[in-house]
Amino acid sequence: MHTLLIYESMYGNTHAIATAIAGSLSHFGDVRIVPVSEATEELVAWADLVVAGAPTHAHGMPTAKSRSSAVDGAAKPDGWSQVTLDASAQGPGIREWLQGLGALDGKRAAAFDTRAPGPALLTGRASTGIAKQLREHGFQLVADPESFIIDTHQRLRDGEEVRATTWASSLVPELVTSD
Ligand SMILES: Cc1cc2nc3c(=O)[nH]c(=O)nc-3n(C[C@H](O)[C@H](O)[C@H](O)COP(=O)(O)O)c2cc1C
Repeated sequence: MHTLLIYESMYGNTHAIATAIAGSLSHFGDVRIVPVSEATEELVAWADLVVAGAPTHAHGMPTAKSRSSAVDGAAKPDGWSQVTLDASAQGPGIREWLQGLGALDGKRAAAFDTRAPGPALLTGRASTGIAKQLREHGFQLVADPESFIIDTHQRLRDGEEVRATTWASSLVPELVTSD
């Protein structure tokens, strides 16, 4: 199985979850993990499964404006000053990547996000938007969108990377049974 992990990440949380998912799925075949800016059509064509994730911003997928706010937040002397920008932070976002995507009839996919704690109805979640767009491009979703949760310091809660590896393993039987 060839798996392509695509992530958008400003502060590294979504990148860390993508890395955990990639580690888990590497037991089942070849895995490539790339920021959105490197998610080429060739890589998508190579993949049997595409797993895409992004941070939740303003209740949904990040925008150019919310990314700019995140950069400002990282530069502030207090508040989010604990965060540092991920190496991929200046690239395009998952929203723009999805907009430029062609039709991928039947290719398997799954979506995840990172977000604040609390009911998704209040926080919003980027993964539902990602999943909807993937479906509209013809992907077959092999799992419900999943969220991984941060703490009050904008860092992943303890145990979320482990939960991500478990979620990733749960995708594999779905791939076998949906053949
Ligand atoms: C500009 C901005 C807006 C955000 N808006 C939301 C939001 O609406 N709902 C939410 O649950 N979390 C929100 N968050 C928190 C992020 O989803 C969370 O910090 C995420 O883990 C960041 O992922 P990253 O480290 O990969 O950038 C926001 C963060 C930023 C910087």
